[in-house]
Amino acid sequence: MEYRRLGRTGLKVSTICLGTMQFGWSADEATSHDILNRAVELGCNFIDTADIYSRWAEGNAGGVSEQIIGRWLASGSVRRERIVLATKVRGEMGSGPNDQGLSRGHMMTAVENSLRRLQTDYLDLYQVHWPDEETPLEETLATLTDLVRAGKVRYIGCSNYPAWLLAKSLWVSDVRQLARFDSLQPHYSLVHRAEFERELQPLCLDQGIGVIPYSPLAAGFLTGKYRRDTPLPESARAEGVRQRYMNEQGFTAVDKLEAIGRIHNATIAQTAIAWVLANTAVSAAIIGANSIAQLEDTVGGAAVSLTPEEKAALDETTAWA
Ligand SMILES: NC(=O)c1ccc[n+]([C@@H]2O[C@H](COP(=O)([O-])OP(=O)(O)OC[C@H]3O[C@@H](n4cnc5c(N)ncnc54)[C@H](OP(=O)(O)O)[C@@H]3O)[C@@H](O)[C@H]2O)c1
Repeated sequence: MEYRRLGRTGLKVSTICLGTMQFGWSADEATSHDILNRAVELGCNFIDTADIYSRWAEGNAGGVSEQIIGRWLASGSVRRERIVLATKVRGEMGSGPNDQGLSRGHMMTAVENSLRRLQTDYLDLYQVHWPDEETPLEETLATLTDLVRAGKVRYIGCSNYPAWLLAKSLWVSDVRQLARFDSLQPHYSLVHRAEFERELQPLCLDQGIGVIPYSPLAAGFLTGKYRRDTPLPESARAEGVRQRYMNEQGFTAVDKLEAIGRIHNATIAQTAIAWVLANTAVSAAIIGANSIAQLEDTVGGAAVSLTPEEKAALDETTAWA
């Protein structure tokens, strides 16, 4: 496993970050713990969750993924300091007006709840999940700064921020001497590129922001199990994948991943991960897995090194997708 710095910071993260949105949704607790143990064995030291995971699963109140990770940490399977633990705040955790958002009021409560569920006294990376137009940036950044100073949070990051808002956040942190976002978690894969590449990528490279893309396999589309003229696979996400990615450009990208993967004796999923990691702006790819087999396959992508020509050939299939 390769470890890269999270942007300009000194923190080293494995290039594969284990996403845990599936925990308590399409992966039960026992499977989730098996996946966590195997990920650590394979060299992953980076785990991403969120307070709202997985609220959409039937009967879940939110916080379930964090609780599953908390019980795993408490079981002593791994020493806490070996893990770079990231979670997020912003989503709706209850029905009250202050049960969501990026206000000081909600964040101070939310961080304590996340710490309790995760059974830890600090978070390595605390991320704002998406923007909150109703809270001044100054309020959010001042609150995050207080959490860093209190030792509850070590680094702060943002997710789903447009470039103008990330640039403004960096400016506010600078002029007000507040903690700054050191990471960005964008949606990014071979079939979803423009949102990140157009404006965010140059900004992150220029400012030393660590980029940790989510859905690098396009929710399973870039694994080869969604093909032209074949029935949809069994998956809670199949309908979403069909609507979003199953078009001629997407299938052409999968064909090219397969052809280039063959040269490296790599699977389609591994080649898709190698493409994301070939981007020098990227610190780690946040993957999702429902089984050990999926995890082992995807993690193998971290060892595949594409030539510049191979990367360019893949780029060509989806210019600005
Ligand atoms: N910040 C945000 O707004 C945001 C949004 C989304 C996700 N995330 C984070 O990113 C993580 C990963 O997102 P994601 O789940 O969309 O990532 P992904 O890696 O693009 O997709 C993972 C899904 O693909 C399928 N899969 C994975 N490996 C496979 C393999 N080797 N062969 C065949 N199928 C495979 C599985 O679904 P099936 O088994 O159902 O096919 C799995 O759930 C999440 O857990 C979360 O931590 C963040």
